[in-house]
Amino acid sequence: MGEAIIQGLLSKKTVNPNGITASEPRKERREELKRRHGVNVTPDNREAVKSCEVVVLALKPQDLEGVLTELKGSLLPKHMVMSIVAGARLKTISDGLAHEVIVRVMPNTPAQIGEGMSVWSATRSVTPRQLDQARVILQALGKERYMNDEKFLDMATAISGTGPTYVFLVMEAMIDAAVHLGFPRHIAYELVTETMRGSVNFAMKSTKHPAELRNMVTSPGGTSAAALYQLEKGSLRTVLSKAIWAAYERSKSLGEESSFSVKAEERNSAR
Ligand SMILES: NC(=O)c1ccc[n+]([C@@H]2O[C@H](COP(=O)([O-])OP(=O)(O)OC[C@H]3O[C@@H](n4cnc5c(N)ncnc54)[C@H](OP(=O)(O)O)[C@@H]3O)[C@@H](O)[C@H]2O)c1
Repeated sequence: MGEAIIQGLLSKKTVNPNGITASEPRKERREELKRRHGVNVTPDNREAVKSCEVVVLALKPQDLEGVLTELKGSLLPKHMVMSIVAGARLKTISDGLAHEVIVRVMPNTPAQIGEGMSVWSATRSVTPRQLDQARVILQALGKERYMNDEKFLDMATAISGTGPTYVFLVMEAMIDAAVHLGFPRHIAYELVTETMRGSVNFAMKSTKHPAELRNMVTSPGGTSAAALYQLEKGSLRTVLSKAIWAAYERSKSLGEESSFSVKAEERNSAR
């Protein structure tokens, strides 16, 4: 995701390669990033933040705590920290860094081709200029939606953040069903992906609700009606709703887990 952000910023000419420093522990990966994008690279996170105004944390949740500890004390008020780490709350990052200017983002994988949907929120210390800066960075990844209340980030995790997974599963199931009917796999892939792409574009260009679009093609006693009967009988809507709720609950519990060590630290220092 860090590389997708670099790629997006460079392709939209939001910033030139010299304006970006990628901090990365592995030498081969640093060399690869430098070769591909011409950006500055360093293995030293503290060194990386010295020359910049925006610090993007694009880490796995398990690496977050170490990096927060490492960066604690090296950030100035000019630094806006933008975290895309799943589940990590504004307060966790702010407490971990002892820094107040934080933006939390939930992006999704289509960001890697500039077609992402990012939902984001920010602490009160983020200035209007910094909010604009954050927006411009996120627009390099696709669409963005700012939410005033951070609680929407866990909900967004379950919808847009995890959403590509649901779509890929449906795509896979339809391709397998087409192969079951007798189509060669590459043709099954083309039929399914083009149908998905076309249907999404059609729904987005139409002024009609998806239910209306569906009713328009559901003739009495027809093929759609026969398929819909089975989909409803199999509780597709309920299963989807339960899956989305489970992802939401998991996102909230990840947030609680990642704030745990900060709370432990607070308790220790209060003793
Ligand atoms: N992928 C998505 O679509 C998506 C969507 C929403 C949110 N997110 C969130 O975005 C975050 C990043 O995900 P990802 O898929 O991009 O993970 P990733 O490919 O594993 O990238 C994490 C990067 O952090 C580097 N790293 C590890 N320890 C470090 C340290 N101490 N200092 C500096 N860099 C360090 C890793 O380097 P090495 O390769 O050398 O280990 C790697 O380049 C996660 O929190 C994820 O939940 C991802």
